[in-house]
Amino acid sequence: MDLTIVGCGYVGLTLAERLQPRRPKLTLKLTTTSSERLEQLSPLADQVEVCDATDPTQLLSALRKSSSAVFCLGPKGDRQVDANGYRHTFVDSFRCLKTLLPQLTDLRQIVYTSSCSVYGDAQGGWVDEQTPPKPSRGHGDVLLESEQLLSDIGDRRVCILRLGALYGPGRDLDRRLRGLAGLERPGSGAAYSNWLHVADAAGALEAALSAEWDGVVNVVNDEPIRLRDLVGRSLRRQGLATVRWLGQEEPGAGGRRIRNTRLKQLGYQLQHPSLDQSGVFAASQVP
Ligand SMILES: NC(=O)c1ccc[n+]([C@@H]2O[C@H](COP(=O)([O-])OP(=O)(O)OC[C@H]3O[C@@H](n4cnc5c(N)ncnc54)[C@H](OP(=O)(O)O)[C@@H]3O)[C@@H](O)[C@H]2O)c1
Repeated sequence: MDLTIVGCGYVGLTLAERLQPRRPKLTLKLTTTSSERLEQLSPLADQVEVCDATDPTQLLSALRKSSSAVFCLGPKGDRQVDANGYRHTFVDSFRCLKTLLPQLTDLRQIVYTSSCSVYGDAQGGWVDEQTPPKPSRGHGDVLLESEQLLSDIGDRRVCILRLGALYGPGRDLDRRLRGLAGLERPGSGAAYSNWLHVADAAGALEAALSAEWDGVVNVVNDEPIRLRDLVGRSLRRQGLATVRWLGQEEPGAGGRRIRNTRLKQLGYQLQHPSLDQSGVFAASQVP
């Protein structure tokens, strides 16, 4: 397989590291938008190229000899970007890809890491891949439009992985939640969230490539968790004061519980089926 990973941030880099044992049989190309990262990425790949996926010349060069491409894009920088920033990263990149397809005759397989946020709020109900997406306006809309651009590609195998919220090394949940200790928060914390260890994001991507999955697949762990349980468990384990929820839930704040039945049917076995098993709430965090 000749694979290009477009976007080597948290997920793309974890995938590249995971694929190392498959080289040199696997020919791997990585992209970055910044020349400063070329040195960091070059030990992991046969080739590393500077590529902004909205630039047709750079994207064509990145994909020209590839049989498979994984798109792990995300807006650049730490700050929250608005919907236009999202649109530029995702929609403009996939529009660019579509214009190039006639020249990309070797490219047979495209895998894209989308997000479960396309489902929008389901008032705490269960959703699966058959549930019509109802994203919120703005960011969720853009992600759904991006998915549709790819789904409309008729003559290549396209797989869209809808990832849950990511955690793992470098994005430790306890550290992220510590700042809430002892605070008062609006609502009751009843909203569900759905989590995914980055190792499982990379694991599912590798499986999607190897077994040639197509269509939409939810990639989340087995346990949707209410915000109050997530925060409460983390703070207790760290020996910190819990949050006081003030009540009065906002309408449309129930979240959703994402089913991963299709992921299991495709044969994928989660390495981190729940947050507890992953060591996120590890007792070692207690001072
Ligand atoms: N993070 C989450 O919790 C989460 C949850 C659900 C779904 N997802 C999905 O997974 C994707 C990847 O997440 P992540 O956490 O790995 O994101 P990330 O760490 O922010 O990495 C995104 C990478 O995309 C590259 N990039 C940005 N704009 C680009 C462009 N125009 N052309 C080519 N590459 C570009 C950047 O490359 P350089 O750094 O080299 O410039 C960056 O490293 C998300 O965008 C989303 O669709 C993420």
